[in-house]
Amino acid sequence: MNKNFDVIVIGGGPAGYIAAIRASQYGLSVACIDEWKNRDGSNSFGGTCLNAGCIPSKALLESSELFHRASHEFPEHGININTPVIDIKAMQKRKNDIVKQLTGGVAGLLKVNKIEALVGHGKFMGLNQVEFTDSKGNVNTLQGKHIVLASGSSPIELKAIPFDDKRIVDSWGALDFTEVPSSLAVVGAGVIGLELGSVWGRLGSEVEIFEASPDFLSLVDRDVAKEAKTQFNKLGLNIHLDAKVTAANKTESSINLTYIKDNEKIEKEFDRVVVAVGRKPHTDNLFSMDSGITLDESGCINVDKQCQTSIPNVYAIGDCVRGPMLAHKGSEEGVMVAEIIAGDIAELNYDIIPSVIYTSPEIAWAGKNELELKNADIEYKVGLFPFAASGRAITMEQTSGMVKMISSKENDQILGVHIIGPMAGELIGEVVLAMEFEASSEDIQRTIHAHPSLSEAIHEASLAVDKRALNYPNKK
Ligand code: FAD
Ligand code: NAI
Repeated sequence: MNKNFDVIVIGGGPAGYIAAIRASQYGLSVACIDEWKNRDGSNSFGGTCLNAGCIPSKALLESSELFHRASHEFPEHGININTPVIDIKAMQKRKNDIVKQLTGGVAGLLKVNKIEALVGHGKFMGLNQVEFTDSKGNVNTLQGKHIVLASGSSPIELKAIPFDDKRIVDSWGALDFTEVPSSLAVVGAGVIGLELGSVWGRLGSEVEIFEASPDFLSLVDRDVAKEAKTQFNKLGLNIHLDAKVTAANKTESSINLTYIKDNEKIEKEFDRVVVAVGRKPHTDNLFSMDSGITLDESGCINVDKQCQTSIPNVYAIGDCVRGPMLAHKGSEEGVMVAEIIAGDIAELNYDIIPSVIYTSPEIAWAGKNELELKNADIEYKVGLFPFAASGRAITMEQTSGMVKMISSKENDQILGVHIIGPMAGELIGEVVLAMEFEASSEDIQRTIHAHPSLSEAIHEASLAVDKRALNYPNKK
């Protein structure tokens, strides 16, 4: 076993494996250590994202969306089939096969790039040393000129509602249900709560979501959050705001959940409970206490703008450092640090990281929202275009939502775009690119968009910024 490397990456999720690949593209010798264990005891690279996050959740969102549409929208199209039936075993097999295909793909990419893929635990010991413990418990000390920590994050557990991995579960558990829960309580109306609540709700579960905060989707533009709440209620997601769950008592066949709402203590029975109240950086046994690595008050590894820790040759990226816990943010940090290690100049534009919530309708945004601009005393213009006026959305039977574009009053530069509606997660790409090039709303106004397409809603919202939308009345 080779023990000397230019770069040792600890963590093989979307941050770590991308850093390893980019470093190897420079001809550097690279090891990538990962300890992910699947339920069947097997190992796979890809981290939370591929094994228990982005990918399996999107597979189930797709299946459940198709089931929902077949049940509720097909008759409108003149398609008459018998009442659709969901085969959960087949749905889960499809999801597991997709995960296998993609994690296998990562293993293949590491191999092709001649990266030493090491299965086991990595621990930074200070200076250039990493202690590697393989799955059999053998310990080896590796030397790395540069070290990248990419250990990811793990779900936060609530003391009042401890996980039992069967009926009170985290997001991974909720991705693996083998039957549709008759009723499902979701604690936390954040991204995971809404996505997984949607999956099981569409498949027939009675879903109630308990959110401790009085605000719904506090990071999202207020107009978009308001529209989202209306749409989710229509779809049967019962969202309780300002509701504090204080206990979960298990009975033989159900879980008795106690929550406080409007000063009233309420008890309710549920078949299953998913706790999705955020994730915390995963740094257990990742570095020795005298290594020089430090954590901030939320447990993230302290890094500068270029992801360098307090030690010059050690970097940290992805969910274990500050910033949004998103796969694409971690991957781009991986690219940046690999380029810096190789001697190139690299930086990341943290102001324009797209966010997507894969509910129906989808929610996507980039840049600042109105509240943030108001608080910063920045003058702005707003253009709104509803999907109800989009020919393409009407033909798709998906007319809920809107595009909201915000640009600077001073020079028209686009400051933020907020979308709720069909394919919002795809549509946001255009505006992220535009914002990266510091485009104005006029630049989008003068760009030809295909007809009929959902992207015309972006075009019309840009026109609406200057009150000249063509397919919707402009507000005086
Ligand atoms: P991880 O993916 O967590 O990978 C870290 C890896 O390091 C793991 O394999 C871990 O086992 C390993 N590791 C940790 N410590 C050690 C050690 N000491 N030695 C060896 N190995 C170690 N983000 C999006 O952008 N889009 C989405 O649609 C999306 N959906 C999500 C859905 C769910 C249900 C969840 C839970 C998350 C979702 N996320 C999504 C978030 C996304 O999964 C994370 O932001 C992303 O995985 C972070 O990447 P990472 O490489 O930093 O960490
Ligand atoms: P989150 O931070 O999105 O939401 C957690 C919610 O739980 C918040 O609304 C919070 O107010 C609430 N909460 C906290 N404590 C509570 C309590 N005791 N009782 C009730 N509610 C409580 O975190 P979530 O949904 O767990 O997701 C974790 C991370 O994973 C997110 O930060 C996100 O970045 C990432 N993710 C991204 C996805 C995407 O990009 N589509 C999908 C899923 C996850």
